[in-house]
Amino acid sequence: MLSSILSASIFLAGAVRAVEYSTTRHISQYSPLETPLLPPASFSSPMVSRTSRRASKAHALHYLRASGISAHTVPLTGAQFDYEYLTDISVGGQNLSVIVDTGSSDTWFPEMGFACFNLSGHPEPVSTCAFGSEGFDSRISNSYQAYPNTTFSISYGDGEYLSGSAAFETVSVGGLTVKHQEIGVVSSAAWVGDGINSGLLGLAYPELTSVTNDIDHQDMKYNPFFFNAVKQKLVPYPYFSIALNRGTAAGTHSPAADPHLGYLAFGGIAPVPVTSTCTTVPIQGYSLTTRAPTADRHSTYMYYTVDIHKYTFPNSSTVVTASNSTIIDSGTTLNLLPSEVAQAYNKGFGTWHDGLYYVDCAAQAPPFSVTLGGKTFSTDPQDQVVWVGTDKNGNDLCVSGTQDGGPQMMGSVFILGDVFMHNVVVTFDIQKNQMTFTQRKSCFHSIYVYHIRDNHPNSDNNPTYQTHRAYIPCASEHTSHPAE
Ligand SMILES: *[C@@H]1O[C@H](CO)[C@@H](O)[C@H](O)[C@H]1NC(C)=O
Ligand SMILES: *[C@@H]1O[C@H](CO)[C@@H](O)[C@H](O)[C@H]1NC(C)=O
Ligand SMILES: *[C@@H]1O[C@H](CO)[C@@H](O)[C@H](O)[C@H]1NC(C)=O
Ligand SMILES: *[C@@H]1O[C@H](CO)[C@@H](O)[C@H](O)[C@H]1NC(C)=O
Ligand SMILES: *[C@@H]1O[C@H](CO)[C@@H](O)[C@H](O)[C@H]1NC(C)=O
Repeated sequence: MLSSILSASIFLAGAVRAVEYSTTRHISQYSPLETPLLPPASFSSPMVSRTSRRASKAHALHYLRASGISAHTVPLTGAQFDYEYLTDISVGGQNLSVIVDTGSSDTWFPEMGFACFNLSGHPEPVSTCAFGSEGFDSRISNSYQAYPNTTFSISYGDGEYLSGSAAFETVSVGGLTVKHQEIGVVSSAAWVGDGINSGLLGLAYPELTSVTNDIDHQDMKYNPFFFNAVKQKLVPYPYFSIALNRGTAAGTHSPAADPHLGYLAFGGIAPVPVTSTCTTVPIQGYSLTTRAPTADRHSTYMYYTVDIHKYTFPNSSTVVTASNSTIIDSGTTLNLLPSEVAQAYNKGFGTWHDGLYYVDCAAQAPPFSVTLGGKTFSTDPQDQVVWVGTDKNGNDLCVSGTQDGGPQMMGSVFILGDVFMHNVVVTFDIQKNQMTFTQRKSCFHSIYVYHIRDNHPNSDNNPTYQTHRAYIPCASEHTSHPAE
């Protein structure tokens, strides 16, 4: 051994609690729903990796915004440092890593032998599409059943598309097995993959499914995976639940899967330590004519959208922070909030440059909390400093976790992304169309600083030390000592 660990100190960044700095200017019209007692989930599947957010998600959000009364485009959409979480699933006995997406509804994979194209439709080798496997092989599955005369097809404004046909298969996620699940089997793909994911598990509502009938070209909406699990009575309660860990800097740089990124769970709440702070709020539906969110309970459900009562941070009382129509989106890293909220939060913290608030990577973020359903959820300040890479001189670059999502207007849609989601477990009740937010136990540290003494001869007289930093995932789930 060249060196020995002399001392260790832990930065308790996460121990700083958000303080209530403001009182809201609004009189709350909110009457909370009764929060059900959430049982532990019967099935759970670990999040195994993160992948760059696909352009399609950016497009879906563009579409949602553009179709509202206000058409505002966020500079951030499609940013390369935006991540989505992956989990492993089994399809007809074949294992695939897929994107977990609460913002779409189809479960799809490439079929072995699929044709790959570049974004202008030119044929390319399969490797160009960069899926994590050669694809699903229907010929060796006993449970595969084709669905003749159907087309599964999603295409996006930027040229990404996936097409093929619908089929039925046995799909297993975290031990929950749905037989005869309708899936999209992709035979043609123009896809900008990451070499890890081989498709997607869509968790949103049936309205967003994308299968049509070849004969009359009509939409054939169907039940997504979890909707079938509920219908087939495979889960004791109609809940799925998501807990996302913030991951490690090392994990971000490594091509290998990071197994400590949280859980997708079914039938109850995801298996992470939580506090007693929780609330249940209705999911907002959409008008099918305007595609804008509406409070009408008879509207159509598509995305997981909620109303936010207020955001609290230093000087938040100087702006109106209530905002309707906020999507809880595991596939977006940052919070994209109303312009004036983002501006007030980043005052004295972030510097506006080219459409983004940049921050010093060593900055201590101001406290930030989110009130919805009558309860206030704090966020860990470390989530508000998001490392996005290095500049051309090799210096670390960080952005604020809370960015400008456009002006607050009728029809605006905002996003609470992973910056918020790392701090809560979100449980989705697809039968009552409501979501329960539960504050997680604080993750105490993610930066662990230790000093290693250089082991020179005679160093006992005049020792020198090197300072090292280790990034540790949300500690509450790990019993192993960080020094190991
Ligand atoms: C799929 O994954 C499961 C669980 O990790 C494993 O037991 C099984 O052997 C894998 N199957 C294949 C075909 O690789
Ligand atoms: C697709 O490939 C063709 C032929 O190589 C090329 O001309 C075109 O620019 C490519 N398009 C994209 C978007 O890469
Ligand atoms: C598919 O459509 C063709 C006509 O386009 C029809 O002849 C055939 O029976 C259909 N197959 C099934 C299984 O419905
Ligand atoms: C909050 O407002 C006060 C008074 O307007 C000002 O002095 C202070 O700098 C502000 N703090 C922040 C963090 O912007
Ligand atoms: C939020 O929705 C309520 C009705 O549900 C509406 O009265 C209010 O104006 C909306 N607020 C914003 C900021 O859109």
